[in-house]
Amino acid sequence: MALRLVLLGPPGVGKGTVAKMLAGTLGLPHVSTGDLFREAVAGGTRLGGLAKGYMDRGELVPDELVIKMLLERFGELGDGGFILDGFPRTLPQAKALDEALSDNELSLDRAVYFEAAEDVIIDRLSGRRICRNCGAIYHVRNMRPAVEGVCDECGGELYQRSDDRPEAIKVRLKEHAKRAGPLLDYYASRGLLVKVGAEADAETTLARLEAALGLGEPA
Ligand code: AP5
Repeated sequence: MALRLVLLGPPGVGKGTVAKMLAGTLGLPHVSTGDLFREAVAGGTRLGGLAKGYMDRGELVPDELVIKMLLERFGELGDGGFILDGFPRTLPQAKALDEALSDNELSLDRAVYFEAAEDVIIDRLSGRRICRNCGAIYHVRNMRPAVEGVCDECGGELYQRSDDRPEAIKVRLKEHAKRAGPLLDYYASRGLLVKVGAEADAETTLARLEAALGLGEPA
C-alpha cells in the first residue's frame, strides 16, 4: 500500500515499536533517523562523530546534518510509500521533506502524533533495551525477551541506550516540548495531523493507529 507517513511524538512514546509492526503489516520501508544516527556512531563514520555528542546529551542533532542525511537516503523511501519515524522534529525538517516529496511529485498522506503521559514515557525509556545486532526493541517489564539480555529475533546482546539515562531523558523531553507545537500546527493546517493515544499495550496502539488511518476497526 502506497502510504506515506511520518510518526511524531515524545521520546519513548512507542513510535519505533509501532512503526516496526505497521511496516511489517503493510510491507512498507521503516526509516528511523535515530537508528540511522546510531548506525553511523557504531560504524565510526564522520556523521556519527558529529552526531554523537548531541545524542548522548539528549539534544537534537542540527537541522542541516539531519536534513542532509535524510535527503541522501531519500531514494530508499521509495515512491511506493514509507514510514518515517523521528523525522521531522523541527519546522525546517518538515519543510525540507515536503520540498523533496514535491520535487518527486509526491506528498505526505498523514502525520501521526502519539500521545502518552510523562510518567508512562519515563518508565518506558528507563526500562528500554535494544538489540545491538538487529535493533529490536524490548522493555525490562512491558516487552521482555524470552531470555534476559538476549534478543528473541537474532540472539544478539541487549543493551541500554546511552541517552536513556535520567539526565538525557530530561533534556529530550524538554527538546520535544519546545518543538512539538509548531510542528503539529504545521501539519494540522494542512489537514494531515492525526493524534493517537499510545498508553495502552503495543497491539492496542497499533489497532488505534490503523483505525485512525482508515485501515481497520477502532480498538
Ligand atoms: P530517536 O531514536 O528518534 O529517539 P526518540 O524520538 O527520542 O524516540 P525513542 O527512540 O526514544 O522512542 P520511541 O518513541 O521510538 O519508543 P520505542 O518504540 O523505542 O532519536 C535519538 C536521538 O537522535 C535524538 O535525541 C537526537 O539527538 C537524534 N535525532 C534523531 N532524529 C532526529 C531529528 N529528526 N532531528 C534531530 N535530531 C534527531 O519504545 C520505548 C520503550 O517503551 C521500549 O522499551 C518499548 O519496548 C516500550 N514500549 C513501546 N510501546 C509500548 C507500549 N505500547 N506499551 C508498553 N511498552 C511499550
